[in-house]
Amino acid sequence: MKRTTVKDALASATSVDSILVQGWVRTRRDSKAFSFLEINDGSCLKGLQVIVDAALPDYPQVARATTGASVSITGKLVESKGAGQKWEVVAETLAIVGEADATYPLQKKGHTLEFLREIAHLRPRSNLFGAVFRVRSRLAYAIHRFFQERGFVYVHAPIVTASDCEGAGELFRVTTLDPKNPPLAEDGSVDFTQDFFGKKSYLTVSGQLEAEVFACAFSNVYTFGPTFRAENSNTSRHASEFWMIEPEIAFCDLRGNMDLAEEFVKALIRDVRAHCAEDLEFFSKFVDKGLLARLDFVLERPFQRCSYTEAVEILEKSGKTFDYSVSWGTNLQSEHERFLTEEHFKCPVTVFDYPKEIKPFYMRLNDDDRTVTAMDVLVPGIGEIVGGSQREERLDVLLANMRRHGLSEKDYSWYLDLRRYGTVPHSGFGLGFERMLMFATGVGNIRDVIPFARTPGHCEF
Ligand code: 4AD
Ligand code: MG
Repeated sequence: MKRTTVKDALASATSVDSILVQGWVRTRRDSKAFSFLEINDGSCLKGLQVIVDAALPDYPQVARATTGASVSITGKLVESKGAGQKWEVVAETLAIVGEADATYPLQKKGHTLEFLREIAHLRPRSNLFGAVFRVRSRLAYAIHRFFQERGFVYVHAPIVTASDCEGAGELFRVTTLDPKNPPLAEDGSVDFTQDFFGKKSYLTVSGQLEAEVFACAFSNVYTFGPTFRAENSNTSRHASEFWMIEPEIAFCDLRGNMDLAEEFVKALIRDVRAHCAEDLEFFSKFVDKGLLARLDFVLERPFQRCSYTEAVEILEKSGKTFDYSVSWGTNLQSEHERFLTEEHFKCPVTVFDYPKEIKPFYMRLNDDDRTVTAMDVLVPGIGEIVGGSQREERLDVLLANMRRHGLSEKDYSWYLDLRRYGTVPHSGFGLGFERMLMFATGVGNIRDVIPFARTPGHCEF
């Protein structure tokens, strides 16, 4: 018999004479004549109620159907007389596939998120993490759908690279040299020409530079893959390994880039709103009461736009005391970003035209010679969710930027070739996948929206 998922069973249009369901026992209740099992198989939030009659030949198995055990059940799908569910299964056979004894850690509700992080191999079986990872999967699909429907070509950027796209020096080195006894150059430094790739290599911080190569051939492209940052920030919004979506568009300026970012974020919210309704309701009940109202509000309104210079003025005039003071030329800290989006504009806001000193080499210099065409999308509850820019397409200006940033022309000759041969104005941005997921679910810590979080000091599983 073909297995029916719990989701399909619960959505059935009719009763079914004979079905097979398989999953894990969430709870069991025994009365004299029956036992009631709640089975979950991850296909949806809700469990399926199974009634096991004490007169069944398999009934003695019920004692082993403890919380966490895996079971295989055949029976009839019938309309439920109880409240809370439309359908339930009246069992005919019950087989225990794998037992779980009383040490199974997910016995009762009310575990802290910190504890659940320590059992990241079991937490997907909880309601909260079931919902998070179903939404994560749907969001990934929605991202591909968004770009594929618009004719964007999906590019697989390399994970091991020799370039530091963001220039922030937050690179994880990839090496096969013996740490105890590395080959040394004459001046006593480690000789990386003898390393695996014949040069220093790293895990990528961004696929952007490679995406630009493809945009200069396919016009509209996107990457979607893991990125790595050896940034020692212990915050609820930073992970050392996270996924990023980076569209890159040829013949597109900053305005078109900001429009696309806004359309993209809204389309993703609309998609999970439509396709993850049950899970989102769960979040709005147990994680963040304001979630659904906030998501709908975001969909209805245009994002605000304001230049960095205006943003600094707003912050200076706010009368608020921030931990980090703000003045023209400083980086906006998360507290500043959150003030702008949560308290001042009270909606998502795109900040653009940042000082050139605080941004990477590839951003296009504005005519004022002080700012570059950077843009960040800030959202309530999180702050920066998207970072992007128009790219410097003028060879001479790009070379000057690189000199200012101390980058070697030789290392980036391939990148410069894009400006030598058929250069075009082009733009792109990076959306942090986990930050988007936090925004869509209301989950407050990035460690709880990624299957196995990597943060400073933590690399379990
Ligand atoms: O602003 P970032 O550093 O931009 C780039 O990497 C550009 N190359 C993107 C581009 O133009 N193609 O990062 C982009 C986004 C951020 O807005 C944030 O959402 C996310 O990536 N992000 C992180 N997410 C989780 N943990 C971290 N440590 C993150 N660092 C950045
Ligand atoms: Mg950024």
